[in-house]
Amino acid sequence: MTDDAHKPDHSTEPSRRRFLRQVGQRTVAAGTTAAMLNGLGGASAAEASDRQVKRRVLGKTGLKVSEIGIGGHSWAYKQVPDGSGGMRVPTVDEAVEMIAAAMEMGVNFLDSCSALSESSTPGEALKRLKARDKFIVSIRVSHKMKGRKQDQEEIYKWTEDRLKLWQTDCVDLCLLCNTENDTPESGYWDMSYSIEALDKLKQQGKIRYTGFGCHFTPALFLKAFDKFGDDFDICSIPYNVRHIAAKTILPAAKKKKLGVITIKPFARGSLLKKRDLAGADAGLPRDMISYVLEDENVDCCTCGVHTVEQVRENFSASWTGLTPDRRERLGLAAATPCPGYRWLEEGWRYV
Ligand SMILES: NC(=O)c1ccc[n+]([C@@H]2O[C@H](COP(=O)([O-])OP(=O)(O)OC[C@H]3O[C@@H](n4cnc5c(N)ncnc54)[C@H](OP(=O)(O)O)[C@@H]3O)[C@@H](O)[C@H]2O)c1
Repeated sequence: MTDDAHKPDHSTEPSRRRFLRQVGQRTVAAGTTAAMLNGLGGASAAEASDRQVKRRVLGKTGLKVSEIGIGGHSWAYKQVPDGSGGMRVPTVDEAVEMIAAAMEMGVNFLDSCSALSESSTPGEALKRLKARDKFIVSIRVSHKMKGRKQDQEEIYKWTEDRLKLWQTDCVDLCLLCNTENDTPESGYWDMSYSIEALDKLKQQGKIRYTGFGCHFTPALFLKAFDKFGDDFDICSIPYNVRHIAAKTILPAAKKKKLGVITIKPFARGSLLKKRDLAGADAGLPRDMISYVLEDENVDCCTCGVHTVEQVRENFSASWTGLTPDRRERLGLAAATPCPGYRWLEEGWRYV
């Protein structure tokens, strides 16, 4: 595997842009329609293609990551109408269009889903686009880890599995990822055995950098930074206009020079459900990402998307600032309860 994703500013390579113009003809047309519909300033396709998602340094990895990335839930959850009243996951063709559109905007980060729900779709899409080396790819490997020797076999198994799904021999980021129910203490466990396994995978050239992104409470994240922060390169933490407790713990992550990838900018869409996105709330998803990006401790905000229109809107947050009116609108949206998200609502709301 070549290393292009780890060099800065591929976004301006003329040959790549030519390639993307061919691949993305249909996506540019779709994006133009979306821009007109959702009040994103009515930029022409030519103007839009000149706007690039900015990059930030991903902590101690030194990687230059686009400040917005595509979340792995995009491919795993049924969010696309199937035409018969049901919902389906995006097809590989649709993923190719979405990833090509994002790539054209300068995006170079593909996040994973939770370990149990990873999909083969983004790997296949990258193969078709011949773009594996243009992206920083992240996988999540663990589940129900308990802080014992057997954890290592779990990690090896998950990693081999993920390498196959992504059709690659090496992934850039490998994150440990327990959920709140996996261990007695809200997902927290002794990571020493896991770290040994990750070191071995690094030596074998299967992963480059490591991190953790679990359903810990903020207090347990602090404990993990303190105890294991020197052993990892990045962390992945929920952060949106309503669930703002990340503000209280990110300085500690940065002290350990951890790269910070935030997840759930819309609380998996819950914060958008009661909004008039085609009318008065047009552009709200973009503004929710802009809000997260205002925090200088954030290196990359990943969002779930399932249409090219969502790609075009969400990634435009990189060059769209927040006006007083938009801030006021965000405040109203932040008051929306998310009853389906107990761990976020109980643990992550307050600073
Ligand atoms: N434990 C883990 O491993 C874990 C857990 C959580 C998240 N993550 C990572 O974080 C990423 C982001 O979190 P997430 O996907 O759960 O949630 P999210 O990004 O907060 O929400 C994604 C959902 O918001 C809606 N949306 C997105 N853009 C929109 C737009 N422009 N207009 C209207 N609706 C829009 C879509 O849902 P609709 O169907 O409503 O349109 C989309 O599926 C994940 O994809 C994953 O990579 C990992």
